Amino acid sequence: MSSSSEPARRPKKTPPAPKQALFTKIFHWLNIISLTLMITSGLQIYNANPVFGGRAGWHFPVAVTLGGWLAGGRHWHFAAMWLFSMNLLIYGIYIFITRRWKRRYASSSDIQVLQTGKNPKRKNYAWHRVVYTGIMPVLVLAVASGLAMYKPVQFSWLSALFINWQILRTVHFITVPTVVLFTFAHSLLALKVGQFRLVKSIFT
Ligand code: HEM
Repeated sequence: MSSSSEPARRPKKTPPAPKQALFTKIFHWLNIISLTLMITSGLQIYNANPVFGGRAGWHFPVAVTLGGWLAGGRHWHFAAMWLFSMNLLIYGIYIFITRRWKRRYASSSDIQVLQTGKNPKRKNYAWHRVVYTGIMPVLVLAVASGLAMYKPVQFSWLSALFINWQILRTVHFITVPTVVLFTFAHSLLALKVGQFRLVKSIFT
């Protein structure tokens, strides 16, 4: 029982639930769907002629592939490519028109915090922003290197930027583990920065 001399306890205020822009939510849902389709069908295509080691090289288990055979994998890959790249393009236009990239993306102050900051919460937040900012050029690279392989005649200038076909295939392939690792790091950082309520806010 509290004595009358104790100061009255203030009721704990729960901060309002985080809110996300509709475009950001749509971007997330379509990324999850299109990237799952792109990665699994991409591994099906990979298995037809592995980037590392040729036909005798290591193959991915059937359970993580989509399409059943090379042509099936290609059909899925090129269909999902439209969803993935249009989503990226529309979200890109949105963040530029609204200047969202200035507010929500990593800036020099985040880098400064990571170098000299003392507040661990602010440091986590800076990491969070740096990580999701860093994935954007990787996503653009995945589309550009894919396009260079899909239409090497029409986009010969783009293919030429990658020096040779093996480098082009390798760069395109490396975007896959990068995106998978990013998804883990990004999800963990989102949980660290804003707990489950922040993660929930991006999908609901
Ligand atoms: C796999 C593809 C993904 C990509 C490319 C991606 C990219 C991004 C980007 C660019 C932002 C900043 C958005 C903005 O403010 O306009 C963001 C925010 C966010 N993402 Fe993702 N994300 C992905 C997946 C995920 C997943 C799987 C989760 C959770 C499990 C997640 C949770 C969040 C949260 C909670 C925020 C909001 C951060 C905040 O408000 O501080 N994302 N993401």
